[in-house]
Amino acid sequence: MSSEKISRRRFLQTSSTAAALWIPAGVNGYTQQELLSFASEEGMQRDISKWDLDTPSLCLDLDALEANIGHMQTTVGRNGIASRPHAKTHKCPTLAKMQLQSGSVGICTAKVSEAEVMFQHGISPIMMTTTNVTATKIKRAMALREANPEFIQATDSEQNARLLSEAAGAMGLTADVVIDVDPGGHRTGITPGQPALALALLIDQLPGLRLRGLLCYDGGSQHIKGFAARRLRTLERLLAATETFDLFNRNGLSTEIFSGGGTGSYNIDHETRGLTDIQVGSYVFMDAQYMDIGGKDNDVQYADFEPALTVLTTVLNDQYPGRCTTDAGAKACTINRPWARVKGETGMNYSSGSDEFGTLRYDDNPSRTYRVGDKIELIVSHCDPVVNLYDSLYAIRGERVEAIWPISARGMSA
Ligand SMILES: Cc1ncc(COP(=O)(O)O)c(C=O)c1O
Repeated sequence: MSSEKISRRRFLQTSSTAAALWIPAGVNGYTQQELLSFASEEGMQRDISKWDLDTPSLCLDLDALEANIGHMQTTVGRNGIASRPHAKTHKCPTLAKMQLQSGSVGICTAKVSEAEVMFQHGISPIMMTTTNVTATKIKRAMALREANPEFIQATDSEQNARLLSEAAGAMGLTADVVIDVDPGGHRTGITPGQPALALALLIDQLPGLRLRGLLCYDGGSQHIKGFAARRLRTLERLLAATETFDLFNRNGLSTEIFSGGGTGSYNIDHETRGLTDIQVGSYVFMDAQYMDIGGKDNDVQYADFEPALTVLTTVLNDQYPGRCTTDAGAKACTINRPWARVKGETGMNYSSGSDEFGTLRYDDNPSRTYRVGDKIELIVSHCDPVVNLYDSLYAIRGERVEAIWPISARGMSA
């Protein structure tokens, strides 16, 4: 008998332990398999409430998502730059298409496998912001460029540029590249100024490459608390990239693309002279890591974007005072900090240090408490690695599940 035909209430009433348990009325409960059979990517064929979802499950609030994408596009448009959203955040072609439809000039990817998946799903304007250094990955990237003329590859050394040019030349291609310039964090990129100029002049001479410009992403700026401090650091860190942009221009080199920035600096980056587009990622979903950095008009909370991505979890145990245990631990939420937060509630703290179990601890005055079988909605800790734990997400309008979107590049880490 399917779970549609026998409600959980009825099941519990007929089971021996029913008296001890309380389950909200009217909740059916469906397995993911059942839901997949009800849904097409375009839409769910019947009315399913998010409270019917099996847990742990990844949920996306469509109203919040649309507001986030809309706010980003309005802001960059007003500031005279563009967005080139980073697909490392969502790994979901449906979302990438929404971003492009809203006016983004392209998407970014962090991995060649991510780029391949996006292209397989019909997305062409892709800039890969990570260098590919091994023969295997260089070959893959150039094969992708052969299939997709809108693919742009980042490079940050003369040796790497020569290898890319050789691989492109062997396929009879002229591949598009941007130079990754280090903002000072030494994670990736070439030193700005003369070293970057020397690389650009080399690329200009290499038969297999075409220079399209530069990128400079300062991850360290993004989560600085307080708008004024974040603005200062963002602009300071990008100064050398602007000087490099000027050097390229003075030497007749392409600066068609000067990309950088992220969710924390989206309304600051246009002040960096020359910058053409921002590689924003987390803004689509938001997360607990970003909620505390404070915005331009709100020192405490970063309320520019709404938390759209949540994990739905079920209470497994409520027998002990001051706490309950759920079914969403590290494998559903990661162990990133700050921990996930209970949406819309106060006076309680969630943690997901155990593999399979989450712990909710109540303060002195919690806004509510939970019973076994109750569902709890959690704002994710850090969106990128949480998304990477799920094969698909539930797209939800209000409380109704509208669609199931595959996270097609999930696990594409190579
Ligand atoms: C190169 C690069 N660009 C853009 C982003 C997006 O940043 P955010 O999620 O803060 O918008 C990241 C995130 O780590 C990144 O590594």
